[in-house]
Amino acid sequence: MIRSVVVLAGLAVGFCAVSAQANPIAERQQAMKAVGAATREGAAIAKGEAPFEAAKAQAVFKAYADAAKKLPALFPDDSKTGGETTAAPKIWEDQGGFKAALAKFEADATAGAGVTDLAGFRTAFGAATKNCGACHEAYRVKK
Ligand code: HEC
Repeated sequence: MIRSVVVLAGLAVGFCAVSAQANPIAERQQAMKAVGAATREGAAIAKGEAPFEAAKAQAVFKAYADAAKKLPALFPDDSKTGGETTAAPKIWEDQGGFKAALAKFEADATAGAGVTDLAGFRTAFGAATKNCGACHEAYRVKK
């Protein structure tokens, strides 16, 4: 009895190690968390709670573009459920629309990549962050 528990525990550890290397749900949630963190920093700059610094402002858009580049590959067919995903079935039913939404997010992020002043940042940040709600509304389930 004790021996079989030990063997099972060993198997469980092995399984976790493998799934940590190739877990598209965890990877896309991680990518989105980075987007969320960048958005908090961007919002503070836009509201004047943090000073405008070009490098920090540009880093917000770089975080968006990096995530938008990574995300298209992180929704394989076998990742529709599990890992507390809030990805909606519509992502797989309407892959063209979802990829277009990601491409638009990336394009808006790229448009802000070279901002040099606060006014320009506010405009580009406003445009880029419209994508969050638009995509979540269509392609994410509420939990
Ligand atoms: C093109 C679609 C799309 C865009 C654009 C998008 N998201 Fe998401 N986001 C998703 C999807 C899909 C999930 C659910 C991922 C999952 O659970 O598998 C998600 C999840 C999240 C999460 C939860 C991550 C977690 O599991 O902890 C946060 C936070 C988030 N998004 C923030 C943002 C912000 C902020 C923006 C805009 C700057 C944004 N997203 C833009 C599709 C998008």
